[in-house]
Amino acid sequence: MVVALSSTRPSSSPTTETASAAPADDIEDLPTEARLTSAGKLYPQRVPWEMLSVDFIEAWGRPNGSFQPEHVEVLGPTGSGKSYWEKWVLQERVRLRRSAVVILLTKPADKTLATLDWPVITKWPPSQWNDKNRQVIFHAKSTGLGKASRARQAEQVEQLLDGIWHPDANVVLAVDEIAYVEQELGLRTHMTTFFREGRTLGITIMASTQRPAGVSRAVHSETAWVVCFAPKDEDDAERMAQILGEKRHYRDVLMDLDREKREFVLVHNLTREAYISHIPDLRKRKKTAPKSDQVEPGTRRRGPRAG
Ligand SMILES: Nc1ncnc2c1ncn2[C@@H]1O[C@H](COP(=O)(O)OP(=O)(O)OP(=O)(O)O)[C@@H](O)[C@H]1O
Ligand SMILES: [Mg+2]
Repeated sequence: MVVALSSTRPSSSPTTETASAAPADDIEDLPTEARLTSAGKLYPQRVPWEMLSVDFIEAWGRPNGSFQPEHVEVLGPTGSGKSYWEKWVLQERVRLRRSAVVILLTKPADKTLATLDWPVITKWPPSQWNDKNRQVIFHAKSTGLGKASRARQAEQVEQLLDGIWHPDANVVLAVDEIAYVEQELGLRTHMTTFFREGRTLGITIMASTQRPAGVSRAVHSETAWVVCFAPKDEDDAERMAQILGEKRHYRDVLMDLDREKREFVLVHNLTREAYISHIPDLRKRKKTAPKSDQVEPGTRRRGPRAG
């Protein structure tokens, strides 16, 4: 629930209510929130990331004001900005709540996540896992395309999953390309169990994928928050919209996202609140804006919290 944003919205909820239709000819000129999708619902409001990020971090994992893990799914084609978004949000969560975070990386390398200055480890538990040092990248690298190397990689991932599967684990597990972990590594049952039962152990999962169709249904159904970047084509939009529910509505919403800006829609499954936003490209801003106008993780920081 993105509470603070309620004040910026029209009095009725635009994502769930139909409004009196705007004349079709004027549609292109209207601000997004006054337009209707073909399902007769208003497009989600576009909100600046500096507002949405603060409210999202505050709301994520605190559905009733107290700590309760909530899983997040991040969908989008390659290069759409999934890892960049995850990096931003995870850093902010660590800053605000000092959360323990493990990023599970199965790709040979990831330039976006590599810019995090967290220790990269290949075995669990890490030697430096203590009160001060509780964020790591667990790199389970494939050493080849053959079955044997996949089996070794799967074993390494299994070791991590077994290692964090205990009461009061209180950890955020970010799984980069969950379709690969489920399908190629054959760990679908593990992932399904993590999604269904991990919350009771304090485990929050943030899973990203380029291939939503390759992910088991439990992953989609056990997820509290979904982030979708611009799909690569209509088929891709169709699959993402199916996951978001209200298929006709979200197909239009997704096709309306600005790929160049790396826009995404963030949907809270419980309340069905939805917002469109994008993380401003700081490299562009640095050329045009004065320093005080730049937004970096933590600029709107509030006091740290436990949880
Ligand atoms: N909001 C943004 N502003 C500036 N650069 C961005 C933004 N989002 C992503 N990028 C850049 O775009 C490139 C691709 O982004 P990213 O690595 O997040 O894609 P991805 O969706 O994770 O792709 P893949 O599925 O292949 O891992 C990176 O170089 C990243 O730094
Ligand atoms: Mg990525």
